Amino acid sequence: MKKIFLLLVTLIMGISFAAVAMAADAKTNFANICAACHGQKGEGSPIGPALKGNAFVKGSDAAAIKATILKGRSGKDRKHPNFPADMPPQALSAADAEAVANFVKSDLQK
Ligand code: HEC
Repeated sequence: MKKIFLLLVTLIMGISFAAVAMAADAKTNFANICAACHGQKGEGSPIGPALKGNAFVKGSDAAAIKATILKGRSGKDRKHPNFPADMPPQALSAADAEAVANFVKSDLQK
C-alpha cells in the first residue's frame, strides 16, 4: 500500500514538473531560443538582425511575426541577405510562438 502511494506521489510530481518545464513564458523562450541570433535585448548580432526598432516588427501584427517564427525565413522570402544564414523554422507550439510574437512587439521594444 505504502509503495503504491509513493509511486503515485512520484508520478504526480513528475507530471507537474513537466508542466512547469513546458510552460516557459515568452520572455524565457526569447532568451533561450531567439537571443542567440537576435541578441538578449533584440539588439541583433552578426547572425541575426536587430528586432528592437525593426521596421517589420513595428509594421506587422503579431500574426505575421508568429508566422515568421514558425516558418523561418529562407530563399526568396529573405529580407536581409547580408546575414550569413537563413532563419530556421523555430520549434515552438503555435501558442508559444504567438506569445513570443507579442513579447517581441511589446516588452522587447521598451
Ligand atoms: C539561427 C539564428 C536565428 C534564430 C534562432 C532566430 N532567428 Fe529570427 N532571424 C534570423 C535571420 C538570419 C533573420 C533574417 C532573415 C532574412 O533575411 O529575412 C531573421 C529574421 C527574423 C524576423 C524578421 C525581421 C525582419 O526585419 O524582417 C523576426 C520577426 C524574427 N527573426 C524573430 C525571431 C524570433 C522571435 C525568434 C525566436 C523564436 C527567432 N527569430 C530566432 C535568425 C534567427
